[in-house]
Amino acid sequence: MTILVTGGAGYIGSHALIELASAGFDFVVLDNLCNASSEALQRVEAITNKCVPFVLGDIRDAGLLKQLFADYAINAVVHFAGLKAVTESVAEPLRYYDNNVHGSQVLLQAMVEAGVFNLVFSSSATVYGDPVEMPVSEACSVGRPTNPYGRSKLMVEDILRDLVVADRRWRIAILRYFNPVGAHESATIGEDPNGIPSNLLPFITQVAVGKLPQLSVFGSDYPTNDGTGVRDYIHVVDLAQGHVAALCYLQENAGVHTWNLGTGQGYSVLDVVHAFELVSGAKIPYRLAPRRAGDIAVCYANPDKAFVELGWSAQLGLERMMHDAWRWQKNNPNGYSNK
Ligand code: NAD
Ligand code: WQD
Repeated sequence: MTILVTGGAGYIGSHALIELASAGFDFVVLDNLCNASSEALQRVEAITNKCVPFVLGDIRDAGLLKQLFADYAINAVVHFAGLKAVTESVAEPLRYYDNNVHGSQVLLQAMVEAGVFNLVFSSSATVYGDPVEMPVSEACSVGRPTNPYGRSKLMVEDILRDLVVADRRWRIAILRYFNPVGAHESATIGEDPNGIPSNLLPFITQVAVGKLPQLSVFGSDYPTNDGTGVRDYIHVVDLAQGHVAALCYLQENAGVHTWNLGTGQGYSVLDVVHAFELVSGAKIPYRLAPRRAGDIAVCYANPDKAFVELGWSAQLGLERMMHDAWRWQKNNPNGYSNK
C-alpha cells in the first residue's frame, strides 16, 4: 500500500515516515519545505535504511498533484502539510486560510479525480476552543477555536464531514493532536522551529543549550495546582504510531472517524520545567510572566476512543519525552542547519 504523505519533511511527518516504514507501508512525500529541511528526509532514510521518494511542491498546485497521482499508485493520503504558528495566523489570516483550507480543498479535489478516498488528517485539540469539560472527549462540542489557525483546522474538519455525507466512498480519519513533544530515539530527527520558538518544549531546550537566556512562564494565576497552564504532552513517536493505527482502521471502516491523540495526563508548565531539569541536569532559569493572550488554563485528552477503536494508546511518559527532546537539541543545537 502506497501513502502520499503531505508535509512529510516536517516535525510530525518525518517521525510518521519511520512508523509507516516499519509497518510495511510504501510512501511518497510531498512538501514545499516552507517549514522544513530536506535533510530531515535524508536522516529518515538513514534510520529506516529505505529510500524516501520526495516531490518538492505545494499542495495548492493542482497540476502537480494530478501528475503525482498519475506517477504513483497511491492508495491513501496522510495530510500533515499546513502552517501551524498561532501568532502568525493572527497576523496573516489570509495566508493561513489559503494554505490550510484552500490547500486541503485542492488536495481533496485531486484525490477525487484520482479515485483515492482514504485520508488521515492532522487536526488539533485547538478545535475544542476552551473546552466545557475536562478531560476533553471527541463528544465535546467544537466550534470556538481562539485563533485563525484553529479555525482553519475546524473548517477542514467540517469540509471532511460534508464530503462523507456526499460520497460514501470516503474513509477519513481526523486526528486531534494534543501537545506533541520529544524526538526519535536516534536523536537525528526532531523539532526545528524557525526563529524563537513559541511552543514550550523547544523554548526550554533552547534555554538549556544557552541559545535563549530564560523561559517566560505565561500565567501563574490559573486555577491549577501551581497556577501555571496544564497541557497533555504526547511523545511524537506515540503520535506517529497513531497514524498507522488510523490507516489500518480505515482499511476496514468507511465514513469519517475522529480520535483524540493524547495521553490523558495533564502536566503544568512547572511540572515540565522540573521534569526537564531532572532528566538533563540543566538548570532552566525562568520568570513568571503575564498570561499569553488566547491561552486556556487546562487542556488534556480523554484518549479512550482511540484505545477502544484503534487499539492505540500512548506508551511513553513525560520523562522519556524530556529525555528525547534534550538529546535531539543537544546533538543538533542548530537543528538541521547543524552540519
Ligand atoms: P511542521 O511545520 O513541522 O510540518 C508541516 C510541513 O508541511 C512542513 O514540512 C512544511 O514545509 C509543509 N507544508 C506547509 N504548507 C505546505 C504546502 N502548502 N504544500 C506543501 N507542503 C507544505 O509542523 P508539524 O508540527 O509537523 O505539524 C504537522 C501537522 O500537524 C500540521 O498540519 C499541524 O497544523 C498539525 N498539528 C501540529 C501540532 C503541533 O503542535 N506540532 C499540533 C496539532 C496539529
Ligand atoms: C504550552 C503551555 C503556555 C511557551 C499550541 C497551539 C496548538 C497546538 C500546539 C498546533 C501553555 C506555556 C509556552 C513559553 C510558557 N499546535 N508556555 N512559556 O499553547 O498548548 O498549543 O501548540 O496545532 O494549536 O495553540 O502549546 O507549547 O505553546 O504552550 O509558559 O515560552 O506552555 O502558556 O500553558 P499550546 P505551547
